Amino acid sequence: MPLRQVLRMGVPSLLEVSSAVTEFDVDALHQLIADMFETMAAYSGAGLAAPQIGVNQRVVIFGVEKNSRYPDVEEVPTTVLINPEIEFLTDEAELGWEGCLSVPGMRGAVERCMHIRYSGYDEYGHKIDRQVKGFHARVVQHEVDHLDGILYPMRIDDMSLFGFEKELFAESEQDQES
Ligand code: NI
Repeated sequence: MPLRQVLRMGVPSLLEVSSAVTEFDVDALHQLIADMFETMAAYSGAGLAAPQIGVNQRVVIFGVEKNSRYPDVEEVPTTVLINPEIEFLTDEAELGWEGCLSVPGMRGAVERCMHIRYSGYDEYGHKIDRQVKGFHARVVQHEVDHLDGILYPMRIDDMSLFGFEKELFAESEQDQES
């Protein structure tokens, strides 16, 4: 299970629309997902999309465990989500800080829908269908954006709320990148 290099913003393939997965429970897919989990863990990410390791397929992973160092961070179940679809369940959007392993060291404030339904499949082809709120909803939207070639800086309305993490949060530690 090799650790994979995370592509950074500026690499053209990050801006492509990725292809749907057509074969489930096959070695190549299991290997891809194993590599993604190893890479996400190595960089302490909250999520990772396959295009970030150079594979333009509609596969994302995410998950945030309860951590005593970050008591305010909401737990998100460890999930493999393939060929995802998102439905917005409210018109309300909330501004929140995001980071991305493809934009290392930076944070930006992005408006996201805070109550969504998402569906898709796990690596075995089993259906996933959930309604979620808050940070979980934000993480899913961020990761699924990667599959459509969208990086979070492209969604920042107020560019004064974009910058280097160390300078923006001189006194507090912040959320993980994804
Ligand atoms: Ni990201």
